[in-house]
Amino acid sequence: MDTFAFIIHPVDPKRDVSRKYPLLGKYLSERQIDFFSTFFPPVYLSQVDGITSQATGKEIKGWLLACPYTPRRMMELPEKMVYHKIIQTGRMAEKLGAQMLGLGAFTSVVGDSGVTIAQALDVPVTTGDSYTVAIAIEAIFDAARIMEIPLESASVAVVGATGTIGKICAELLADAVGELYLVGRRVDALEAVREEIAETSQARLHVSTNMDVLSRANLILTVTSAIHDVIKPEYLQPGSVVCDVARPRDVSAMVAAARDDILVIDGGMVDVPGPVDFHFNFGFPHGKAYACMAETIALTLDGRFEEDYTLGKEISRARVEEISAIAKKHGFRLSGFRSFEKEVTQETIEAIRRNANARLRRHN
Ligand SMILES: NC(=O)c1ccc[n+]([C@@H]2O[C@H](COP(=O)([O-])OP(=O)(O)OC[C@H]3O[C@@H](n4cnc5c(N)ncnc54)[C@H](OP(=O)(O)O)[C@@H]3O)[C@@H](O)[C@H]2O)c1
Repeated sequence: MDTFAFIIHPVDPKRDVSRKYPLLGKYLSERQIDFFSTFFPPVYLSQVDGITSQATGKEIKGWLLACPYTPRRMMELPEKMVYHKIIQTGRMAEKLGAQMLGLGAFTSVVGDSGVTIAQALDVPVTTGDSYTVAIAIEAIFDAARIMEIPLESASVAVVGATGTIGKICAELLADAVGELYLVGRRVDALEAVREEIAETSQARLHVSTNMDVLSRANLILTVTSAIHDVIKPEYLQPGSVVCDVARPRDVSAMVAAARDDILVIDGGMVDVPGPVDFHFNFGFPHGKAYACMAETIALTLDGRFEEDYTLGKEISRARVEEISAIAKKHGFRLSGFRSFEKEVTQETIEAIRRNANARLRRHN
């Protein structure tokens, strides 16, 4: 049976450490968990069973492994130390017999996005970013349709537009929408992205380092590597959609509490084919996975073990299209929308639309 391993790590330190070690999660503070994570070895979490291709009937198995560092730790520690811990986790995958290794969340963000890690390992490696991009775009297009926002005249923003995922998302969105805001921290880098996109796109392009421009967007895709939320309720326009692909989240929980006139969706969740059991609760409903996990699984179902797949800071359109086709063939699908870990129902959408209209009427 073909096999894969996928590396995850605590994102919300107290909540996620409790999933494996309830007592440590209960008694240690966030700062203590951050500190002790430096000395913790890689952790075996579970065996994953039941994944079955809808195209071929092939069944595979896998393992979830944890790199103990939190996002804050991965940003604070010297890159070499972080690579070392992820490579150690990768070696655990090799010992288990994994034929494909996926790097989850921040293990794919750190340093050169998987290149150094892949060089140190024998097993082929993928960050899963190509399928994350494909699913993020599909999700935002779907949300636009549901909220009746026509793409051609939509004003769209990508927050983190200089990043690995943000840049290619901006490129793909620019093909479909009227106006695109590239939002980030560094003007020079944003201008470089704008120039590149302008070569092939007719969309009106703007760059900004100021989150205030989000008030001009009806569709926002946010994918920064910030370790704290960056999108606050006051930035957003009534009736707009925010697709949050970042982990930790970019959208402040205050948005859910303060704004019932905005649709915030979690980007990157997909249905996995077959009666899958992850034997570990990583916070998703049964049968669902992160898109980056799904890329690792889809490549394993397809037997693509001859090379690393998505690595580095430049993602190609060709890879995004190819992995979409591979995943679709084997039966992966964009999941129904969720917002702050709750299902988004038709009633929720209708209420958001009603509230947005009422708010706009009050302002006019
Ligand atoms: N949902 C999924 O399945 C999935 C899969 C993979 C990754 N992810 C998540 O996606 C996110 C981005 O990953 P990536 O590989 O694209 O990272 P990356 O290449 O490091 O890019 C990060 C981007 O965020 C920007 N940024 C960082 N801190 C910021 C802040 N405080 N305010 C505003 N912008 C900030 C960076 O701007 P500068 O250019 O100024 O540094 C850069 O544009 C991470 O949260 C990761 O965990 C999710």
